[in-house]
Amino acid sequence: MRIGMKTVCLSALLVPLAVNGASFSGDMPADFAANPAAVNMTQEPKVVVNSGRLEWIPFKRDLTLWPSLSHDDKRPTPKPRKVMLDEPLNGDPARGRELALARDKGYCIVCHELPGEAWPGTVGAKILSFKQHKYPNELVFQQIFDSRAFNPNSVMPPYGTFGILNEQEIRDLVAYLQSLD
Ligand code: HEC
Repeated sequence: MRIGMKTVCLSALLVPLAVNGASFSGDMPADFAANPAAVNMTQEPKVVVNSGRLEWIPFKRDLTLWPSLSHDDKRPTPKPRKVMLDEPLNGDPARGRELALARDKGYCIVCHELPGEAWPGTVGAKILSFKQHKYPNELVFQQIFDSRAFNPNSVMPPYGTFGILNEQEIRDLVAYLQSLD
């Protein structure tokens, strides 16, 4: 697949974005859910008092009670991927907004509040006045492409690595977020 990106170390940019005030220890393996030895296992967060940290405690649980297509999907989980953005961004903010609201595309609104949009979720941070952060495009692009680069336990879908959105769609989303007053 040729998508005009090189895999490089973005260590200079690997500052975590705001994570709703929470910080998680990186103990949980990124491919935990796809590890065959861990079928019907789950992990539960336990607060480590006065440390600001969570510990992940594995325990067995019968997950067949909650049927999900993912139980039958034996493909290995693609590893987190670090990417570099070729500037200029060339994103279309109006298309980015559509993607952010579309259920079969970004559906960012299911987790994030976006300015002026109805029925937001509260799982992710409010994405309001985004422009004021002055995040480099590259950082926002990586966050959407594969947020596990910043947080191995991220619940945000790795849109690029999993092929949910293509490169241009992610560029459009970056342009949309960067345009939010
Ligand atoms: C399943 C819930 C979920 C979905 C869907 C989701 N996110 Fe997130 N997002 C999060 C969470 C949780 C965080 C906090 C960091 C983390 O856990 O990785 C986050 C963090 C972010 C951040 C960093 C915010 C900041 O100010 O530091 C951005 C930007 C972002 N998401 C954009 C998006 C975009 C754009 C989409 C849609 C393409 C999207 N998110 C879809 C849950 C989600």
